[in-house]
Amino acid sequence: MRHVNIVVKVTNACNLRCKYCYNQDTEYASAVLPLERLEKFLTMLTAKYDSIEVIWHGGEPLLAGIEYMTRAMEAEERLRLTTGVKITNKMQTNGTLIDRSWVAFFKKYSVKPGISFDGIENDKHRQGTAKVLSAFSLMQKEKVRFGTLAVVADKDYDILENYKFFAAKKVATDFSPVFPEGGAKSMTALDAEKFASDMIALFDYWLYDKEGVGVRLFSSYISMILGKSCRICSNASCIGTFFSIYPDGNIYNCGRASMTQYPFGNIDDITSVDDLLSSDGFRDLLVGAIARREKCKESCELFPYCCGNCSDQAIIEGSLDKAPAFSCYAFKAIFTHIRDKVNKIIEDKVPLTDLNPTMKSIWIDCFSIKGDLEDKK
Ligand SMILES: C[S@@+](CC[C@H](N)C(=O)[O-])C[C@H]1O[C@@H](n2cnc3c(N)ncnc32)[C@H](O)[C@@H]1O
Ligand code: SF4
Ligand code: SF4
Ligand code: SF4
Repeated sequence: MRHVNIVVKVTNACNLRCKYCYNQDTEYASAVLPLERLEKFLTMLTAKYDSIEVIWHGGEPLLAGIEYMTRAMEAEERLRLTTGVKITNKMQTNGTLIDRSWVAFFKKYSVKPGISFDGIENDKHRQGTAKVLSAFSLMQKEKVRFGTLAVVADKDYDILENYKFFAAKKVATDFSPVFPEGGAKSMTALDAEKFASDMIALFDYWLYDKEGVGVRLFSSYISMILGKSCRICSNASCIGTFFSIYPDGNIYNCGRASMTQYPFGNIDDITSVDDLLSSDGFRDLLVGAIARREKCKESCELFPYCCGNCSDQAIIEGSLDKAPAFSCYAFKAIFTHIRDKVNKIIEDKVPLTDLNPTMKSIWIDCFSIKGDLEDKK
């Protein structure tokens, strides 16, 4: 099955001004991607792929409005019916504009929202805390499944306490280290060792948190360790499996700012996905990423898991063809710690009932041994 992910930067407009936002250089321009351009792009993708995941993004995607989004869903449905291609939807949103109508929209069209929210001190670098918390309640009441994404923006961010905050609200989360793009360029850089040691401390707590919630990074690493390939984009080769489209119709690898250095073309000028794959931008990005991965492959036993990490991060840190120091350090430290812990659990035959529910379900999914281990308890 040929699968592709597309990041639709439906607009760069945003109702917030988060201090670290990597989109700052867009000046949050108000243009919205015309539906005709979106439909043309989706139609081209259905000619090449069997399955498409649309990730609605921005700026703030909800600013495109419910009527626009409904028409986009109708366009997708027409394509599903005429081509048989599977099309699914996720949305990364700041959550401040979610009301009853949006909740009904998410339910009706099975759109899974990811809410950007930094937790206890959300207003330190973001805004709109009360609105986001009320959106959580609305979605939970209506049984809309969603996750959250928190940015670790400075050394004072307490990852463990913030996890407890999310767990108390029964909301799955993930912690993303701030990267120096856009507004974050003028902020003090995060220390990789501190980030990694805080994530490790969180893992040790999380693992036995029987009432706990999921942390996406942990789920992804554990799945890889147990032999399932449930990878986040940084640990997979994203080039050729990700495209992003901007409001002006320009197409790049993904929505991260540095990717605009590698343009693949404009939707108005191309007739097929192959035009994108034969662009200079695509070739240069691919060649640079391959050079980085070749070096990683030669020198690192973790390459099969890490896959040379994120190209955007590598560019930000200096060069596309070199492993990005922050992410490389963090991956090695966190992944090897988790691997040791998982091996120890296997060795010690720790009962599943002692573990975090997410850990338990990944385990069951990977081994289907639920009966076995629970019987031993
Ligand atoms: C650019 S926003 C676009 C979607 C939407 N406005 C939102 O905030 O979810 C996408 C994600 O990038 C995160 N982000 C923005 N700037 C960042 C930075 N410099 N480092 C790490 N994450 C950042 C945001 O917190 C958000 O989770
Ligand atoms: S991170 Fe998202 S919500 Fe915050 S300013 Fe950037 S685009 Fe807007
Ligand atoms: S460049 Fe980085 S953020 Fe973008 S899709 Fe690839 S791995 Fe993900
Ligand atoms: S951990 Fe570092 S050296 Fe190893 S594959 Fe990842 S980026 Fe490359």
